[in-house]
Parts: sequence; structure tokens; C-alpha cells
Amino acid sequence: MQRTLVLLKPDAVQRRLMGEIISRFEKKGLNIIAMKMLQVTPTLAKEHYAEHVEKPFYPGLESFIISAPIVAMAIEGLEAIRVVREMLGATNGLNAAAGTIRGDFSSSRQMNLVHASDGEEAAARELALYFNEDEICAYNPVL
Ligand code: CMP
Repeated sequence: MQRTLVLLKPDAVQRRLMGEIISRFEKKGLNIIAMKMLQVTPTLAKEHYAEHVEKPFYPGLESFIISAPIVAMAIEGLEAIRVVREMLGATNGLNAAAGTIRGDFSSSRQMNLVHASDGEEAAARELALYFNEDEICAYNPVL
């Protein structure tokens, strides 16, 4: 089993797409093992997007990600990092395939609705930014 961090970005919340997106992960059979709504601070934005801080698009990305509340989720499943990334689609909504979350709901490179960790190292680092270990729940299906 792998764990990955998923963020529903400000556009997903403002456009009332949270339920639609969460529903896709649930229907796929992934386990949502932690979830919280929060306002990202400039400090957290710089930590989260450390690899992009020096890039020309970073100021716009930071303004966007701190502009309104987001939802952070820890998602668990077999090959969850790859599976979730494939469900998101390409970074730019204009290039994302139909049937993916971005392909179906985004036409933007910046306002692309969702973020997901792109590898095991990133997942561990990003999960620790948003969740304490005691906020992660054991998913014990009873059905
Ligand atoms: P995300 O998966 O959260 O990872 C980095 C984010 O930066 C990406 O989604 C986009 O929202 C944003 N991004 C990546 N490339 C660009 C770009 N060239 N211009 C603007 N935003 C970008």
C-alpha cells in the first residue's frame, strides 16, 4: 500500500467540485485516511512548492493557492501515487485527457483543481507538511 497527499485547490472548493472529486477517489476504491480544510499560508506554500519557488510562475501560483481555503487529504491504496496522478490527468487542463479530473473540469494550467504527490519521496514530505501522524486514521473496512 502507498500513501499520497492530495490537495483540492481553491478553485475546486470555490466551484463546489469537492464532492465530485472526492467521489471519484472513493469509487476507484482508494481509502481517504485523513482530510482537513485549511487556509494555506505563504510559508506553507513556499514549503510545499519548494521546487518551484524560483520559477517565474511561482508568484502567481502562491497568490492562487493562498487565495481561499483548500482541502488536504491523505489517500491510501495499492500504487496510490501513480493511480491518483493518472486520475488527475496532465498538469494543464487544456492537455488533460477526457475522463480525468482536470480533463473534465479544468481548462487552465494554474487553476487545475487538484494537486497530488509525484513520487514516494514527495508523498512522505508533503504528507508530513499537512498531517501529524496521529491525524491519519486506520481504514478498517467493515463491509
Ligand atoms: P501542481 O500539480 O499543484 O504542481 C505545481 C503547480 O504549479 C501545478 O500543479 C500548477 O498549478 C502550477 N504550474 C505548473 N506549471 C505552471 C506554469 N508554467 N504556469 C503556471 N502554473 C504552473
